[in-house]
Amino acid sequence: MPAKNELHYGDNLEVLTAHPAWDGQIDLIYLDPPFNSNRSYNVLFGKSKGVAGAQAQIQAFDDTWTWSPEVAQHYHELTTGGLPLRASDALEAMHKLLGESDVLAYMVMMTPRLVQLHRKLKDTGSLYLHCDPAASHYLKIMLDAIFGPDQFRNEIIWRRTGAHGKVKRYAPTHDVILFYTKTDDYKWRAPTKAFMQGHVDEYFVKDERGWRTNYYGNVLTGSGLRGGESGKPWKGIDPSAKGRHWAIPGALVDDLDEDLSAMTQHQKLDRLLELGHIKIIPGQAWPMYERYITPKDGTPAPDIWTYQPYTEGTVFESDEGIDADVRWLSPRDSERLGYQTQKPVGLLKRIIAASTDPGDVVLDPFCGCGTTIEAAQELDRHWLGIDITYISIDLIQKRLRGRYGDTIAATFTTDGIPRDMEGAHALFAKSPFDFERWAVSLVDATPNERQVGDRGIDGVAQFPLDNKDGKGKAIVSVKGGALNPAMVRDLLGTVEAQKAEMGILVSLERATRGVTDAAAHSGNFTATALGRSYPRVQVISIEELLAGKKPNMPTPFLPYIRSQRSFGEEQLTMKFDAPPGRAAREPRRLEAVTAAPVPAAPAKLVRAPAKAVPAEEAPSKSVAKPALKKAARPARKA
Ligand SMILES: C[S@@+](CC[C@H](N)C(=O)[O-])C[C@H]1O[C@@H](n2cnc3c(N)ncnc32)[C@H](O)[C@@H]1O
Repeated sequence: MPAKNELHYGDNLEVLTAHPAWDGQIDLIYLDPPFNSNRSYNVLFGKSKGVAGAQAQIQAFDDTWTWSPEVAQHYHELTTGGLPLRASDALEAMHKLLGESDVLAYMVMMTPRLVQLHRKLKDTGSLYLHCDPAASHYLKIMLDAIFGPDQFRNEIIWRRTGAHGKVKRYAPTHDVILFYTKTDDYKWRAPTKAFMQGHVDEYFVKDERGWRTNYYGNVLTGSGLRGGESGKPWKGIDPSAKGRHWAIPGALVDDLDEDLSAMTQHQKLDRLLELGHIKIIPGQAWPMYERYITPKDGTPAPDIWTYQPYTEGTVFESDEGIDADVRWLSPRDSERLGYQTQKPVGLLKRIIAASTDPGDVVLDPFCGCGTTIEAAQELDRHWLGIDITYISIDLIQKRLRGRYGDTIAATFTTDGIPRDMEGAHALFAKSPFDFERWAVSLVDATPNERQVGDRGIDGVAQFPLDNKDGKGKAIVSVKGGALNPAMVRDLLGTVEAQKAEMGILVSLERATRGVTDAAAHSGNFTATALGRSYPRVQVISIEELLAGKKPNMPTPFLPYIRSQRSFGEEQLTMKFDAPPGRAAREPRRLEAVTAAPVPAAPAKLVRAPAKAVPAEEAPSKSVAKPALKKAARPARKA
């Protein structure tokens, strides 16, 4: 695998197919694909006064799948030699069951991707598929067909929300995460779930060394006589004499780091004695089971991951509530980046820590706003991310820069994004909308939610005007075709109408003399705090931007609502500590994009037109942190 982490802009099926070198190389795959939810998902941006009154949002991806002649053709190709036999049989069986339906269209999209992902895994590797109950049962059947039913490990239930509207059924609050491994010899780092404080209070006592077990003396035995070894004396203690037999509770051995399941009762007693967990006190009727626990101990992690608000103080020696590490993101969560389907970093950290070691390779083929990438980076794993939407790729780069600083750019490559004029033209031909978003991102502006008919406003860059909260605005207009002076005058009109400070015309074609003259006559805007003037309207070409030139403007904030917070201070420090102008701006430059061909347009399924999306569910109430009074329970005695 390459030394650098990799971010790929494109359809994951094409990217995976184009990388045979990844076959058998990936330690962990987490995928959170569209769920067939019949919704469009947007990216929300912070309020930008004047330009976009309401919370701005642009569509990120559409999750509506429709059966069509194109899908029927794709289905035919897949089931006539395009898939391994079992996957093909499973798809045909679904065809029989579901008919030519939208769910089948969704499975036609997912199946070849799951086949590719299985191929990429190492023999010790694991795959976690995050979905919801709408399609989880079909996806599980397909994963059984591809991985083999024996390789199914868990269906994890993750509580994804605290809020729910009025429904005439049980409120849907969970997602499903299907966990499969490539073989039986898979990596497993045995995660644990912390003890509850109530359990510790009941079964342990605190002494000078810490929390020690406090069980009944006869905890290692069961009532009734037995023949065989369990009824025989051990270390001179005869259970049959008291009508009992040796029976070590499973919970006691489950807590150990080693597996004693194949041992006889006497062998288990010997091992527990060796480990110091059994104390024989002369004169006492029974050997005492004894063990000290720390907050790191616990029971094997279960397959239900459900954060419980208001349980703070109930987990052993912790201020956090049950499953607080996998807490869902409330709409105002500080982790939020505005990407509607964003998952919490804690969820991904739990998965990565359970199934990989530092240095292992993690792949997310539907990486959205980069939650897996952030978690992998934090846990020192290599990562590969793929997304079909340019906005995701832009967001992830900025997310990483926001967290780790600009030097992070040297540690990963971005593929599929233009780095020369040929690539820029190819992107324009493939998707003028994605071209526009890309061009807007080159000047660190936020893309406009409406991509047509918004008075030529394709994006807005914001910059600090003073060392308080004052912000200036630059309206960004992107032109894919030939320029003319009227476009400069129109932009100037928009700048004035929107009470913005300046305008930037980003063009795919080079500006003619007439256009640059018109810009030169548009006047200046003076940033008094900086003691500098900037052109009211300027023209900058994609060619110049690709060569590293930046617009002549104060250092802009990076877009995306939450990352902006962490940038505010740094930006202001830069602005007032560094000499104004180029030097101050250099560190904020976008990282160089790599020269890779823009992937060919994906063989898309026909999707229904995008619909407006209602705001996310109401926030859960903020979590109070009462120090719950623990009921002092008497220890159980023999
Ligand atoms: C549910 S979101 C993933 C969210 C992600 N787990 C996070 O925390 O941000 C699904 C993502 O898959 C992307 N996507 C959809 N179809 C794709 C395809 N064929 N190839 C690559 N990415 C795709 C969408 O653009 C979207 O960003």
